[in-house]
Parts: sequence; structure tokens; C-alpha cells
Amino acid sequence: MPELNFRILPATKKLTGKTPSESETIMTEVVYPNDTNPMGMLHGGKLMQWMDTASAVCAQTHAERIAATVSLNKVIFKRPAKIGDIITIRAKITRAFNTSMEIFVQAWARRVLSREKYLINEAYFTFVALDDNAVPVAAPKVKPVTAEEKLHYKQALERKTNNNN
Ligand SMILES: CC(C)(COP(=O)(O)OP(=O)(O)OC[C@H]1O[C@@H](n2cnc3c(N)ncnc32)[C@H](O)[C@@H]1OP(=O)(O)O)[C@@H](O)C(=O)NCCC(=O)NCCS
Repeated sequence: MPELNFRILPATKKLTGKTPSESETIMTEVVYPNDTNPMGMLHGGKLMQWMDTASAVCAQTHAERIAATVSLNKVIFKRPAKIGDIITIRAKITRAFNTSMEIFVQAWARRVLSREKYLINEAYFTFVALDDNAVPVAAPKVKPVTAEEKLHYKQALERKTNNNN
């Protein structure tokens, strides 16, 4: 069995800014019978749990701190995933404000036999970085690099403004 080598990296706490790719998180799951309704469709709550976990890992990697989920925007289940499907979840930070961070999460299902892959859900989660006493604390800024990252960064401000109204 290959030896697993984990390197413990020193915390950077780069408050000046980090790129979205530094904390991008990919998670893979398999849909088992216990995750489904009687028609073999993946429970929405189970998918939400996986999306919450992936986005928490992303937010905590960016902040280098514990982060708590504070909200998520409208969630739409576009298509069902079925027993045996492979679920891939990608979580990527769009923007950090003061203590809050917005994470864009997408989930795809892949049928093993047909290899068909399709989007089943996407949502924006907001997390708040916490200090050791669970008090909100400043998170590092986000430095968008690609055109898509820059667009998400710009639109995040509109979503935050609408959320707070
Ligand atoms: C997260 C928590 C500590 C924030 O406390 P708070 O008193 O609301 O803190 P603040 O009012 O200072 O808000 C902190 C940030 O959250 C943002 N925020 C608060 N409510 C929000 C909402 N509904 N949607 C989006 N952002 C929100 C604020 O705008 C602020 O962002 P900024 O600092 O970047 O400007 C508190 O709400 C909490 O403990 N909630 C429970 C979290 C939880 O149990 N999650 C599930 C387990 S992880």
C-alpha cells in the first residue's frame, strides 16, 4: 500500500488577498440506496449536506479559520440524481467582504454506464469567518484572476446588497 505523506503547511493568514483557485474544493460522492426516496432519487437534503460540506471546506481553506454557514440563496433542484450516480461538487469562493465570504457551489451527476454528466444543482452559500470565541473576524480578500472569477466577484456585491435589504 502506498505511503501517504501529509505536509503540514504553516498558516499564511494572507489578509492582503488570495485567488479563488487557492481554496477551490472538489468533492466526490456516490448515491447509495439510503440516500434516496422510494423512486431512487437522491434526497435534496443529502445533496444540501454535501454542498454545505464542500463550501465549508472552501471557506475555511480561504480564511484559514473555522467558518459558519450563515445563509444560502435560492436553491433549485434542476434534475434528479439516481442510485449509483457519481456526484461531483465544486465549491469556489467568489468574494470576501469583511467577515463574510460567498461561495459558489455546483453539483453534477454522472451515470456510470452511459457516462452522461449533467448539472443537478447550483447555489451561493455565505459563510462567516470566526475567531477562537466564535466571534466574526475579518477574512482575507479575494483576488479574482479569470474573466469568470471577475464577473462572479462583481455580481457578489449585488447579491450581498440584495440579501441585506
Ligand atoms: C454567523 C454568526 C456568528 C454571525 O453573527 P452576526 O451577529 O449575524 O454577525 P454580523 O451581524 O456582524 O454579520 C457578520 C457577517 O455576516 C453577514 N450576514 C449576516 N446575516 C447574513 C445573511 N442572512 N445573509 C448573508 N450575510 C449575512 C453580515 O453582512 C456580515 O458580513 P460582513 O462582515 O462581511 O459585512 C451568527 O449569525 C451565528 O452564529 N449564526 C449561526 C451559524 C450556524 O450555526 N451555522 C450552522 C453551522 S455551521
